[in-house]
Amino acid sequence: MPAWLKDAVFYEIYPQSFKDTNSDGIGDLEGIIEKLDYVKSLGCNALWLNPVYDSPFKDAGYDVRDYKKVAPRYGTNEDLVRLFEEAHKKGIKVLLDLVPGHTSEEHEWFKKSCEADRNEFSDRYIWTNGAFCGIGGHPYIGGEAERDGCYMLNFFKCQPALNYGVLNKTEEWQTPCDSEAAIDTREAMKDVMRFWLDKGCDGFRVDMADSLVKEDDDKKSATGRIWTNIREMLDKDYPEAALVSEWCNPECALKYGFHADFYLDHHGNGYNVLFRDNETEGPDNSYFNKNCDEDPMRFLDDYLGRYNNSKEYGYISFITCNHDTPRCTKTMTPDELKIAYSFIFTMPGVPFLYYGDEIGMKYLDYVRTKEGGFQRTGSRSPMQWDKSLDNFGFSDAPFDKLYIPVDKDENAPSVKTCEEDENSLIHTVRDIIALRHKYEDLQADAEFKVVYAKKGERIFVYKRGDLLIAVNPGLKEVSAEIPAQDLKTNLIFKLGSADISSGNICLGAQSFAIWQ
Ligand code: NOJ
Repeated sequence: MPAWLKDAVFYEIYPQSFKDTNSDGIGDLEGIIEKLDYVKSLGCNALWLNPVYDSPFKDAGYDVRDYKKVAPRYGTNEDLVRLFEEAHKKGIKVLLDLVPGHTSEEHEWFKKSCEADRNEFSDRYIWTNGAFCGIGGHPYIGGEAERDGCYMLNFFKCQPALNYGVLNKTEEWQTPCDSEAAIDTREAMKDVMRFWLDKGCDGFRVDMADSLVKEDDDKKSATGRIWTNIREMLDKDYPEAALVSEWCNPECALKYGFHADFYLDHHGNGYNVLFRDNETEGPDNSYFNKNCDEDPMRFLDDYLGRYNNSKEYGYISFITCNHDTPRCTKTMTPDELKIAYSFIFTMPGVPFLYYGDEIGMKYLDYVRTKEGGFQRTGSRSPMQWDKSLDNFGFSDAPFDKLYIPVDKDENAPSVKTCEEDENSLIHTVRDIIALRHKYEDLQADAEFKVVYAKKGERIFVYKRGDLLIAVNPGLKEVSAEIPAQDLKTNLIFKLGSADISSGNICLGAQSFAIWQ
């Protein structure tokens, strides 16, 4: 386990939309380098960049054409190495996005794989042995290649699935997961990882990490073996490199070798019921919605098992949002977000802040889809630096040349306006992250314990190590009796109003407090 993860706070940058320095309307690596001090000023000491590789961009770069080349629109390989170096000088680690489950249909491997004559890449993807048969219920394409077969897809039509074999072979065209072809794919992915690790990257966020072996068992043990093998390479040659999975199953992902696994917004899970329980008709029942009556029990019922069964192996990563998820501002106000983020940054594991969430950037539901984003596009709009500048200082390009339009709302927040307003969200974000760095008990592996949570009650009290933390997201005053052994009385952080006396915590409307 890389020691730096213990105190890591990540900032996710969607490179298209962060900062454009060459006026082409799209963000670039130079722009990220320019803004490293800003990232640092938030207290973030690590970055996750969405894919920056060469791509036809039919899925915003998750359709990789060349894993070893930076997309010209972002800069060059040398620029990326410079970003690693500049970030390291400021104490910031950089994770790239590894997309191991599929490539673009324009990748050289795939072009070779489509050829009728057998070659080194014929089994790099998953092909049937006839152009007219199905592919075991998975999505597939037929009739596009000279080769007499159909190929499996991993996501969009442009993303053919790489072949890591199957656990139990039942069809003639399948390859076992321990076959030479499957191992070649794994080794090719390790080669990509080594390429960037040798250039100074600090690890990877792994896209669809559970998707490798298509016919696997319930525990994904064959996919797991691949990650265990990859982790062995890291432990041996790159012990400081971190591996974070898009899996949302820490019991599996962390045991197989990931250092951290995202708690993603999946309908009805513990993460979803906290912030985004509003995707269906009816009222918004998210715990952090100030107007509802929700208690923290639905969250805890889901989270505690995940946490207890995985904490000895690695970390769960809470996120404020990501590039696939509607920003919380779709339904939440800055006051609600202050409480929600204070909770996120005081939970165990390695937290991720999505760019712009620190100023409460809006989810833009009116923007047209861009590069396969569809409804996700609303969370991918340009960073709002300074309202007095064109395009909020994101880019000097004319408005109609921007990758995605900037927020047109005249009340849209910007870094500058938020910094000038002492009551704004960015200050809470900075304060709570600073506190996390100051107190080891708020960091990744300090023990988490529920002190008070009851069905039908809004208040939630928990401990991290020796610190006592209490949350009230609602509008009514609440209180809770605290067992003597858990009581702490020295207030070190407060939003709203908080009192503790004679073993009783009393929190005013929309309050959050930490005692030492
Ligand atoms: C998950 C990524 O986060 C998403 O943006 C992408 O479209 C799919 N995986 C496919 O790679």
